Amino acid sequence: MKPSLHLKIPASTANLGVGFDSIGMAINKYLYLYVEEAEGSNWEFKYLNEELDSLPKDKSNYVYKVAQQVAEKYNVTLPNLKVSMRSEIPLARGLGSSASALVGALYIANYFGNIQLSKYELLQLATEIEGHPDNVAPTIYGGLLAGYYNPETKETNVAHIDIPDVDVILTIPTYELKTEDSRRVLPDNYSHEKAVQNSAISNTMICALIQHNYDLAGKMMTQDGFHEPYRQHLIPEFEKVKVLSQKYDAYATVISGAGPTILTLSRKEKSGELVRTLKSEITTCDSEHATINNVGVIEEVVYPS
Ligand code: HSE
Repeated sequence: MKPSLHLKIPASTANLGVGFDSIGMAINKYLYLYVEEAEGSNWEFKYLNEELDSLPKDKSNYVYKVAQQVAEKYNVTLPNLKVSMRSEIPLARGLGSSASALVGALYIANYFGNIQLSKYELLQLATEIEGHPDNVAPTIYGGLLAGYYNPETKETNVAHIDIPDVDVILTIPTYELKTEDSRRVLPDNYSHEKAVQNSAISNTMICALIQHNYDLAGKMMTQDGFHEPYRQHLIPEFEKVKVLSQKYDAYATVISGAGPTILTLSRKEKSGELVRTLKSEITTCDSEHATINNVGVIEEVVYPS
């Protein structure tokens, strides 16, 4: 029997406005997985906080399915496992909860199947399953990055930049928004002119972030034309959060991933007052300070005591 595996897997915020399916940043909210070998022939799932109770405990569990898919790919058989899960990442809120679960499943298959996957290979597998790297890549590596998954070669390349020295505020609605529903409202095609404009906005945003010019980065982040104009009607609080954030000179307010969470990059000296204002004026959401994770997944092998 192998010793247990403990995983601490960060959340992520994708897009940062203009980096649709490409730019993402890891956030210090975690999915914890405690995994041990168990007797019997069916994996056991135990949920340590009630928000997870809606998830299946049988073979339709996403972690189970992905772990078995990877085991099959590498021709290994996983032992029967007991997986205990605790999550601080709210489900279906645009904070990468399913990407974190996917990454967890890869680490489980890698460890209990002794596959010896490198981080690069973990990223390739994760992106091939997810279709884009903007959540899985920061979850694996931590930090802020841009990435591209080439669907023909199935290769993913990522490039990291410094994490921004700003305060991060999350405004998390109480309702869920499924990624499929939030992607369904997007156009199938963009004109050449629009694609050129949005690419220019995105390139300028990234260069501004590299220069730590947060005013310019914020100006660009809020001019996205790839997804926000089509999605904002799904998030009634978005406009009000933007207006309040502008009052406190925030750099940018954007939809986090596919929503409905709203991400604000704030000036450090104003973030406390801004969060308190958001909390008191928008009672349908939970507004809070968040921090950027620069480490990625933490994997710990635990021996029996
Ligand atoms: N980039 C993705 C989207 C993130 O905005 O739909 C969620 O998978």
